[in-house]
Amino acid sequence: MSHNNQRTLIVGAGIIGLSIGWELARSGGRVDLFDAGEAGGGASQVAAGMLAPDAELEFEETELHALNAESRRRWPSFAADLEADTGTDVGLRTEGTFIVADDRDAAEALRRRYRFQQDQGLDVEWWSGDEARARESFLAPGLSAAIWSPRDHQVDNRAVVEALQAGVRKHQGRLHENTPIKAVEPDARRPAVVTAAGERVEGDTVVVAAGAWSRSIDGLDGALPIRPVKGEAMVLSTTPTFDLRHVVRGPEAYVVPKNDGRVVVGATAEEKGFNDDVTAGGLYENLEGGWEVVPGLLDLAVDCTCASFRPASRDNAPVLGPAAPGVVAATGHYRHGVLLTPVTAQEIARYVQTGTLSDWVEPFQPARFDTVSSDIARA
Ligand code: GLY
Repeated sequence: MSHNNQRTLIVGAGIIGLSIGWELARSGGRVDLFDAGEAGGGASQVAAGMLAPDAELEFEETELHALNAESRRRWPSFAADLEADTGTDVGLRTEGTFIVADDRDAAEALRRRYRFQQDQGLDVEWWSGDEARARESFLAPGLSAAIWSPRDHQVDNRAVVEALQAGVRKHQGRLHENTPIKAVEPDARRPAVVTAAGERVEGDTVVVAAGAWSRSIDGLDGALPIRPVKGEAMVLSTTPTFDLRHVVRGPEAYVVPKNDGRVVVGATAEEKGFNDDVTAGGLYENLEGGWEVVPGLLDLAVDCTCASFRPASRDNAPVLGPAAPGVVAATGHYRHGVLLTPVTAQEIARYVQTGTLSDWVEPFQPARFDTVSSDIARA
């Protein structure tokens, strides 16, 4: 792996595959992207586009938080480059995020989260419900407490995938939609992909960015232990009088106002395989959870409901780097696919071009699961 004009075959044209393709194509690489459906679909559409490493910090995930925060740091210049290259506004908004509690139990849990965030040195503030409501009038009256997270932002993920497709095409990248990949054939010099229709395509590198479907591709001997975690969401249409400015995260749901008038309310987290039904229970959970923290959303028209699958690895962290000879993984982004797009695109593109793995990616290599398997076998 060394030259910028090498041919890279990317399996999966969601936000991760497209962003890697765009990075490679705009620096002179030859890129073919394959998607089982339409480019930019699936989780890239259903996501709410939150760029919120501080709000989404989990107790056991400090190493992942460092990667998430680095990617958030890269988002403004990534968005500016993409907008300049394609002329598409990607709706990056920097108003910050409220994490709120609606009763005493939720306030206790929020307090524990706040202490942990403080221990990690994050830029967050503890506010009363009334203080939060003075800043964001669409918050529910009577909230128990809030964390103000001024550095957690959002982007319009649907606009991003539109822009990325335009960028890939502008730089002569080729998008093969409705072309499922059945298998990859690892090889250090000429790896290949095989389509479901039986066509074999060779390149210099194969990148697997197939999200929740990464595990179902033959030829990788279980190197990508990815499972689907279903998320159901609903999209409402704002009105002239509904002027929610901030991302609001409640105990049961988040509410995210977008520049184009959509308000995304989500999302369930269900481990039930690949059933993508939007269920009555999912709608109820999202609506009740959203209403508890932003009651005004009950007056909004329902634009659409949707469901897709977060790709989660065994440790819920992304899977980045060499997976087999000539094959590179860029998958397993779980709850952080949109957030992790810049760092994934830039570091995986660099690896494809130079063979050098950056310190950012090093802890997240697929090989970490080999160690787990052999430890279990030895025990
Ligand atoms: N990061 C938001 C979600 O996974 O629902």
